[in-house]
This record gives sequence, structure tokens and C-alpha cells, in this order.
Amino acid sequence: MLPADGLCAFHSLYCDGIIEIEARETSLIATFSKPAFVLALLAGTAMAAPARAQSAAEGQKLAFDRGKGNCLTCHAIKGGDLPGTIGPELTGLKAKYSRDELIAIVTDETKRNPQTVMPPFGRNRILSEKEIDAVVDFLQTL
Ligand code: HEC
Repeated sequence: MLPADGLCAFHSLYCDGIIEIEARETSLIATFSKPAFVLALLAGTAMAAPARAQSAAEGQKLAFDRGKGNCLTCHAIKGGDLPGTIGPELTGLKAKYSRDELIAIVTDETKRNPQTVMPPFGRNRILSEKEIDAVVDFLQTL
């Protein structure tokens, strides 16, 4: 186990592996360290999905909030009441637009269509960059 300390300094996952091997060799807590090692490997992917889901929920609130996105004034949106019909229903957007295109539309639709009545939420700072990011997470669920 001579190089273990040096490798631990470079990479904690490798370190966990070394600890696991050590535990097995000395027949200590091998059964506990193995799931911990696997959890450490999965941590990155396991965290991503719930974070997006939470952001999408926040985005829905912003989209429906009359003092923020107020998107329902013009768009029918799944889960929203009393929509207006000035804009098209927001549906199937993930297949229609890339994430960057959706961010561009919400930030400033006048770039794509100078005649649009849709407010430029980013340019006018009605929504912050972070808020637009959450709204787009929500749009991608529609
Ligand atoms: C004042 C009305 C109005 C409001 C408020 C509004 N939009 Fe729009 N939106 C439109 C119109 C009209 C279009 C049609 C395209 C155009 O005019 O360029 C559109 C188009 C879109 C599109 C493209 C839809 C497609 O299928 O091509 C998206 C996405 C969109 N809006 C998202 C939003 C979001 C998200 C909000 C709230 C943050 C919002 N809009 C608020 C009027 C509005």
C-alpha cells in the first residue's frame, strides 16, 4: 500500500478504491465500503436529474407568475389556467428547438422576429439569466 497516499492526493475515488481493498485485506468493513465506493462513482449522474426537475418546477412558477414571465397571457401551457391566444400553444418544444434556441427566444424574440409582441424577457431584465435557464428547463418538459 506504499503508493496509496500519493494517489489519494491526486484522486479521491482511487483513494476510496484503495481503502476498499485495504478493508477487504484486513477483513474490516468490506461490505460497507463497497456500496460507498459505488455511490461515490454514481454521485455525479444521480445528482443531475433531481436538480433539473427542481429547476423545471421553479421555471413553471416563473412562467405562470403574473409579475414575472406571465407567459399564460399569450400562450396555452399544460397545467396553466385561463391562457390567452396571442401566441401559439407551448408544446413539443424539445423536439422543435435546441436548448440554446429556447434561451434565445425567451431572452429576446425580436432578434428572430422584429415584429413580435412577445416581450424580450432577457434584454428588458424582466427575467435574470438564471430565471430564464429555469424557464427553459420547464419549457423542455412540455
Ligand atoms: C405578449 C404576448 C406574449 C407573452 C407574454 C409571451 N409570449 Fe412567447 N410568443 C408570443 C408570440 C406572438 C409568439 C409567436 C412567435 C413570434 O411572434 O415571433 C411567441 C412564441 C414563443 C415561443 C416559440 C413557440 C413555437 O412553438 O415556435 C416560445 C418558446 C415562447 N414564445 C415562450 C414564451 C415564454 C416562456 C414566455 C414567458 C416567459 C412567453 N413566451 C411570453 C407572444 C408572447
